[in-house]
Amino acid sequence: IADLVGGSQEHGALEVILEGLRRLEYRGYDSAGVAVVADGAVEYRKKAGKLANLITELQESPLPIARTGIGHTRWATHGGPTDVNAHPHVVDGGRLAMIHNGIIENFAEIKRELVEKGYEFRSETDTEVAAVLLADTYNDLDGQDLTAAMQATCRRLEGAFTLLAVHVDHPGHVVAARRNSPLVLGLGEGENFLGSDVSGFIDYTRSAVELGQDQVVSITADDYEITDFHGNPAEGKPFEVLWDAAAAEKGGFPSFMEKEIHDQPMAVEQTLLGRLDEKGNLTLDELKIDESLLRSVDKIIVIACGTASYAGQVARYAIEHWCRIPTEVELAHEFRYRDPIVDERTLVVAISQSGETMDTLMAVRHAQEQGAKVVAICNTNGSTIPREADAVLYTHAGPEIAVASTKAFLAQITAAYLLGLYLAQLRGNKFKDEIGTILAELEAMPAKIQTVIDNEDQVKELARAMKDEGSVLFLGRHVGYPVALEGALKLKEIAYIHAEGFAAGELKHGPIALIDEGQPVFVIVPSPRGRDSLHAKVVSNIQEVRARGAVTIVIAEEGDESVSDYANHVFRVPAAPALLQPLLATVPLQIFACELAGAKGYDVDQPRNLAKSVTVE
Ligand code: F6R
Repeated sequence: IADLVGGSQEHGALEVILEGLRRLEYRGYDSAGVAVVADGAVEYRKKAGKLANLITELQESPLPIARTGIGHTRWATHGGPTDVNAHPHVVDGGRLAMIHNGIIENFAEIKRELVEKGYEFRSETDTEVAAVLLADTYNDLDGQDLTAAMQATCRRLEGAFTLLAVHVDHPGHVVAARRNSPLVLGLGEGENFLGSDVSGFIDYTRSAVELGQDQVVSITADDYEITDFHGNPAEGKPFEVLWDAAAAEKGGFPSFMEKEIHDQPMAVEQTLLGRLDEKGNLTLDELKIDESLLRSVDKIIVIACGTASYAGQVARYAIEHWCRIPTEVELAHEFRYRDPIVDERTLVVAISQSGETMDTLMAVRHAQEQGAKVVAICNTNGSTIPREADAVLYTHAGPEIAVASTKAFLAQITAAYLLGLYLAQLRGNKFKDEIGTILAELEAMPAKIQTVIDNEDQVKELARAMKDEGSVLFLGRHVGYPVALEGALKLKEIAYIHAEGFAAGELKHGPIALIDEGQPVFVIVPSPRGRDSLHAKVVSNIQEVRARGAVTIVIAEEGDESVSDYANHVFRVPAAPALLQPLLATVPLQIFACELAGAKGYDVDQPRNLAKSVTVE
C-alpha cells in the first residue's frame, strides 16, 4: 500500500514523478524509487527512507533525461523496508521495471513456478514476482505486446494490485493494471499520467479518468487505451478534478480523518488479504515462535494503549470464545508496573498502529524478560514493536495521518479476529470446523462497512445539531462495550466534549445518577439473534435512561424494531455475527465525532495536546 505515479509527457519524466511523490509524501512511507526509459535502457534508483534519501541519491548519481518513467513510495507489506525491497523492481536483465501497490495473495505459488523455470529473485516482495511473471509472459508471447502480457499476467494474480510497468522495447509507453486498489489516469496536452491518486499529477492536468475494476491501461504521451484483463475494449469513468491541490491530498474530503473513515472498507479488506497458505490454513506474517509453544499457551494478555486497547478488548471476547484460552486485556503502562504474573506459557499480544508507542514497547520488553512470547498486531512494517516481537500480524490499513485513529482500529480488530482463528486452528479445538464460516462472514464485512458509510448523512445531521452538547454518554455490553469506549474517546479527542463509555450493565451501579433531562446517551444494541438475553438487557437499559429524561441515540441492526419505541434516533447497521459487530457499530460513532468537531470549527486531524505517535512513557 503505497503511492505511485507514472507518465509519459512533455515535461521531463523525473521532474513530474518527483513532484507527484512529494505531493503524496505527507502520507508517510518507508522507501521510494524511480525508473525511466532513456537511450535504449531502463535506468532506476531506489532508496529506503524518506524521499530526501532518493533525491540525494539522484544528485550523486543522476538519471538521464527521459520522457517516460514511473515512481513509487512504499509502505511495506511483504518484506521489510530496505533498498532491495523498494520499488521499482527491475527484472529481465534490466529490460522491465515495475511498481505495485497492494498485496498479491498467490505470489508464493507463482514464485515457486518461476523458480522452477530458473528465475532468481533478489527481494522478498510479491511485486518482484509480478514483475518476473510479466517479463516471462511478455517473452513467451512474442516479445512485442506488453499490454497483452500485462492482461495475461493479471489473469494469474489474486489479491489487490495496482501495477505500472515500463519496458525497454517500448520507450514511450507505460502499461498499468488495477484490481481492488486505486488507479487514476490524468489526460494532458501531449502528456498523460497515471497515479494512485489525482494529487500525483494535479499540477499538470485536472482532466482525469478513474480506472474500473480489473482493467488494463496503456498510455503514451498522446493516447491511451483501456481494456479488461482479456483484451476486450473497456472504459473508465472520466471526471474533472475540482479540488485544489491541498484538498486533493485528502481525496476531496475536508479532513484526513474523514478520508480515513471512508477508507475503512479497503483497510479491512486489505487486512484480510493473503492470510491463507496453499493448504487453506491461516498464517502469521512473521513467526519466530515455535508452533508447539503457541499450542501450549495457557494464558493470553493483550497489551495496548488508547484505541488499540479497545481493539484488544474486542479481541478478548473473540479469543476466549473461539479458543477457550483465558485472555486478559491491560493498558500497557499499567501492565508494565504492576508485577504481572507472566511466564513461558503466557502469550502477550501487543497491539499498536505505529509500532513505536513507548508504553507498549516497554510492556513488550517486560513480558519477554519474564519468558513470555509476544505477537504484535501492527500497522507499520519494520517499526520497533514488530521488530522486537516473536511474531507479527500486520494490519494493512495503509498510513494513518489523522491523529485520531479510525481505519487502524478496524484493521486491528480484524487482525485480532484472524489471530483468534489462527490459534483455534493451531490448537485444533472443537471450534475448528467453524473457522471457514467465520472467515466468509469476515470477508463480507467491507461491503457492510460501506453500507454504514453510505448512510452517513443522517449521522452527520445529528452531529451538527448536537455541537453544543457539554457531555455525551455511550453504553454497550459484550463487544459493544469497547465500541462505547471508542465512541467516547473519539468525541473527547477531537471535539473536546466530556464523554464517557460504560458497560451498560454497570449503569445501575452508579453512572445512572448522571442521567438528567436531555442528557444524550448512545447505546450500542447487540444483534437480536445473538446468544442469551443480551439484546433484551440492552433494550431495558435504553428504557431505563429514557425514563429518566435521556435523549437516546441507538445503533441497532437493520430490522430490529424492538428499539424504535425507546430511541430518539436510530442508526442502522447491517446484520452480522455478534462478535463481528464492532466493525460496523464503531463507524457511525467515528462519523459523529468527526462531523461534530468539524462543526465546532476544530482541526479534526490535529487535535490539541495530542501526537500521532507517543514515544515517551
Ligand atoms: C486514539 C489514538 C490513540 C492510540 C494510542 C496507541 O484515536 O489514536 O489512543 O490508539 O496512542 O497508539 P498506537 O496504536 O500507535 O500504539
